[in-house]
Amino acid sequence: MKTLPNDFLWGGALAAHQFEGGWDADGKGPSVVDVLTAGAHGVARRITDKVEPNEFYPNHEAIDFYHRYKEDVALFAEMGLKCLRTSIGWSRIFPNGDDAEPNEAGLQFYDDLFDELLKHDIEPIITLSHFEMPLHLAREYGGFRNREVVEHFVHFAEVCFDRYKDKVKYWMTFNEINNKMDVNNPLFLWTNSGVLLEEGENAREVMYQTGHHELIASALAVAKGKEINADFEIGAMVSHVPIYPYSSNPDDVMLAEEMMRQRYFFPDVQVRGFYPSYALNEFEREGYNIPILEGDEEILQNGKVDYLGFSYYMSTTVKSDVVVDNRGDIVNGGLPNGVENPYIQSSDWGWAIDPVGLRYVLNRLYDRYKIPLFIVENGFGAVDEIVDGKIHDTARIDYLKAHIEQLKKAVLYDGVDLIGYTPWGIIDIVSFTTGEMKKRYGMIYVDRDNEGNGSMERMKKDSFDWYKRVIATNGEEL
Ligand code: BG6
Repeated sequence: MKTLPNDFLWGGALAAHQFEGGWDADGKGPSVVDVLTAGAHGVARRITDKVEPNEFYPNHEAIDFYHRYKEDVALFAEMGLKCLRTSIGWSRIFPNGDDAEPNEAGLQFYDDLFDELLKHDIEPIITLSHFEMPLHLAREYGGFRNREVVEHFVHFAEVCFDRYKDKVKYWMTFNEINNKMDVNNPLFLWTNSGVLLEEGENAREVMYQTGHHELIASALAVAKGKEINADFEIGAMVSHVPIYPYSSNPDDVMLAEEMMRQRYFFPDVQVRGFYPSYALNEFEREGYNIPILEGDEEILQNGKVDYLGFSYYMSTTVKSDVVVDNRGDIVNGGLPNGVENPYIQSSDWGWAIDPVGLRYVLNRLYDRYKIPLFIVENGFGAVDEIVDGKIHDTARIDYLKAHIEQLKKAVLYDGVDLIGYTPWGIIDIVSFTTGEMKKRYGMIYVDRDNEGNGSMERMKKDSFDWYKRVIATNGEEL
């Protein structure tokens, strides 16, 4: 019987701003997430002008990994993780983003962290920018609206590549670079790109203009990384939420196909190195002014990624004849024409639970790009209850198990080339979209609540031992 390859990278995924804390420790500057207040399901996080003294910012302390990393890495090692995906807090290295010299204390922190991981045979998998742009670049430069920010990002990437060239092999440039295709939620343009829309602006045009600069930044970083170490594997990272047609009505099918371009646009450019025709046609049709300079085509061509990392949490469904003002329950991200899928249940936060969708996505992405894939986020955000000193997180185990079963089918039956699997939030962290602690993904519980109370003590959930067994048997025992 066929099994997953022996070097399959089982791991866990995190992002600096959601778990490190130490938001102003050792010279770190504020980032775009350091001015995000706490929200809740259905209550948006506010973006304040600066760090205000009377506001609560959940990411500031997060779970204090910055000061507890040895203890946490020991737990990851006990679980048997083969890799840990995390990010480098950009403003820890360049507090303002445009500083001439990096902050040595910030660089040293990641040296120490990577050494600690490697000591336990855990390979660091690194995202350069996971919503952590220095606030100064957003406020003073207008974020990625401004082409100068490309240089600052590439400088940051170069410093990291050079410093960690012997410790890190797998890199990703931008986390979920395609989130901002949902222009209706200001959180995404802000965290992806450091951009706030102005009155009267065409949101989609701004998104593409900004996106062009990020695509150039990503391509330049890939080329720079390869110069520094030809063995680097540098990937793109996108959020992949498939969009299903509601029915076999050809109008539903075509609508879903067209809307899937929201998911494909960024990886199409990052993997293939040129703009797809559907996007060029849209720019022309809508009269968008995209700041494509002479030489940019070459930059994109020379900065193609080696693999595609993606997050998979859920699927969505669209129906062509939905009346926009009367569309009932709109699921996930306010997709126009979005409807509930009658075959799929949702989590308490309205995220559709669809394991088969993971196999579907793996196949579609692999057929389209023919490069290795890496599932760098997947997981179940849920409330955990402590009963007699234990957390029986059966629903989380069921979710992960069902997704791993589908991942195995994609690799062993369909023949998809998959590097690894790093479930999201291997330890409880601050939720990105809501800023809550109670939306927990971890296999390790952290005693901290939405208001910032708690001892920060760590505790294993049932899923801890379950996942340990999965890794030890290379996915044979689920
Ligand atoms: C992805 C992000 O969008 O989803 C993570 O890359 C995020 O940063 C994860 O945490 C889950 O979202 P949330 O809002 O449940 O934390």
